[in-house]
Amino acid sequence: MLRLPFFRGKTGVSREKPSKLELSGEIPTHIAIIMDGNGRWAQKRNLPRAAGHRKGVESLRAMVEACLELEVKILTVYAFSTENWKRPKEEVDILMNLLVEYLQKEINELDRQGVRISPIGEISRLPVPAVRQLEKAVKQTAANDRLILNIALNYGGRAEIVNAVKEVARLLVNGELAFEEITEEVISQHLATKDMPDPDLLIRPSGEYRISNFLLWQIAYTEFWITDVLWPDFRKEHLVEAIRAYQKRDRRFGGLRL
Ligand code: FPP
Repeated sequence: MLRLPFFRGKTGVSREKPSKLELSGEIPTHIAIIMDGNGRWAQKRNLPRAAGHRKGVESLRAMVEACLELEVKILTVYAFSTENWKRPKEEVDILMNLLVEYLQKEINELDRQGVRISPIGEISRLPVPAVRQLEKAVKQTAANDRLILNIALNYGGRAEIVNAVKEVARLLVNGELAFEEITEEVISQHLATKDMPDPDLLIRPSGEYRISNFLLWQIAYTEFWITDVLWPDFRKEHLVEAIRAYQKRDRRFGGLRL
């Protein structure tokens, strides 16, 4: 059920006028990005990994700007997976501190631009300062509808599906839902991305060809674009390149082009 009025469908919306980024044609409604390669970027420069993560925040900032300009409606970024807890505590702390710093510094500008902050994942398990900043950001930006910024934190696609299954099972046990009423739509409505169309385009920088437990359910018909560019180097021109490639794809959703 798409309750948000500004989504005009499950696929991208055609724009006649080229944007300042010189892109016309169908712009994806929902773009997802696996922000990968921060460590390698730093290593290549003999810098600590933290420097790569910090530079990665600049890329995120550039993507938010570009999505606003192109009128992309949803940007979902993978910032911290359920598996990232395996990293040394020092690196986990750096990432959490960067998140707090990002929200503290940028929330007013993001709010002014009409960005809605929407964390996805098991947020309650994050350190208290991160939870507080996220709650504040969510509250402050709740009424915005120009761009939804889904930040995946302590997120795992499998964990998300398990949660959905548990919630549906509870409805069943409580007699609020009949067995025959369990549909794909019902499962979708119990995911973190409920009420949002699935991603049209998934971008993976740093040349890796894997999904890494990201949006497993939602990417059933998503177009992938993989580049060797490392996330800290990823800028608007790379996003434009990804969208141009997307525009050339023939999306059939399992059907035939007639
Ligand atoms: C993967 O690169 C990246 C991450 C685990 C973190 C992504 C985080 C950011 C871009 C910045 C923080 C985000 C916010 C929202 C403030 P990697 O470290 O695995 O790179 P590698 O594979 O080259 O080692």
